[in-house]
Amino acid sequence: MVKVVILGASGGIGQPLSLLLKLNEKVTDLALYDIVNSPGVAADLSHINTPAKVTGYLPPNDGLKNALTGAHTIIIPAGIPRKPNMTRDDLFKTNAGIVRDLAIGISQHAPNAFILVISNPVNSTVPIVAEVLKKHNVFNPKKLFGVTTLDVVRASTFVGEVTGHDSRDIRVPVVGGHSGITIIPLLSKASPPHSFSQAQIDALTNRIQYGGDEVVKAKEGAGSATLSMAQAGARFANAILNASVKGEAGIIEQSYVHLDADEDGGKQLKPKIDGLDYFSSSVELGINGVTKIHQLEDLTPHEESLLKAAIPELRGNINKGIAFIREDP
Ligand code: NAD
Ligand code: LMR
Repeated sequence: MVKVVILGASGGIGQPLSLLLKLNEKVTDLALYDIVNSPGVAADLSHINTPAKVTGYLPPNDGLKNALTGAHTIIIPAGIPRKPNMTRDDLFKTNAGIVRDLAIGISQHAPNAFILVISNPVNSTVPIVAEVLKKHNVFNPKKLFGVTTLDVVRASTFVGEVTGHDSRDIRVPVVGGHSGITIIPLLSKASPPHSFSQAQIDALTNRIQYGGDEVVKAKEGAGSATLSMAQAGARFANAILNASVKGEAGIIEQSYVHLDADEDGGKQLKPKIDGLDYFSSSVELGINGVTKIHQLEDLTPHEESLLKAAIPELRGNINKGIAFIREDP
């Protein structure tokens, strides 16, 4: 039994993400929860002839509880998206409460599930979920992930456009966080390796950091990335399922995690990031979640300067999320 639950399943991300999970043959049950339309989305998807049994839930009649019970993996794209001229942090006011309430449900009904947070601002919503789980004594840092895969997907695409390589074969680690200057592409570690000019590094870094704004602007008020995010979310969920259900070894993805997820509690990485507790890192995945967080080694002077610029903003975002729960009576 592999039950995947999507919280916010009727939205711009939720619907295509639900479709991609319905097509994933490792999934046996797909539970779709939203405050609107989820039974309709579920009925539609249920006609596709793949193994997953699809069910839809609304808040009444213990909808959240029934959706979450028995969950193996929970993906959270619930919350409002940006409009032009907004930052992701501008979403905090609305989305922090939504994510907190869903996390309370998770801590009560599915405390052992893998939790994949898409809702923005990810730099703050992941600490919010962690603090709620801590309050309920069910926090397992190895199973909580901020989904930053879209930054990695964009990096492959944009680097492919510059180098001419097939973007499917390109891997660029993107670390730090998921907003503007906290997004740190490590182009020196691109695979296959490529010798970029400084002008190319500057342009690529800027495009990867502000790829989200490109989509927000193009959608002219109709929201932010949904389809590319659904693909990125499905890819990350698939990595989690391959590691945890199929027991595949050696799977590495970048994700925004609590450093306690690491085997040594992030002892080596922490001094390098000025003591931050959360950092998007290359993580190795195993049956029970994160097995190892990779170090930040051999950064170029340019990458060191990106890291230095990211740390204060990340710290502010993290502290804002933590305070939202700790100062909640
Ligand atoms: P959307 O408005 O199209 O969909 C959001 C859905 O959440 C809606 O169906 C809404 O009904 C639902 N919802 C609201 N409150 C809820 C609650 N309490 N419980 C359950 N469902 C609830 O928005 P979208 O475009 O799908 O974006 C969703 C979020 O994902 C936004 O915060 C956006 O910024 C974020 N996002 C993150 C990334 C990333 O890389 N992590 C990428 C793109 C978008
Ligand atoms: C993205 O990177 O596309 C998302 O975080 C959505 C946004 O607000 O840009």
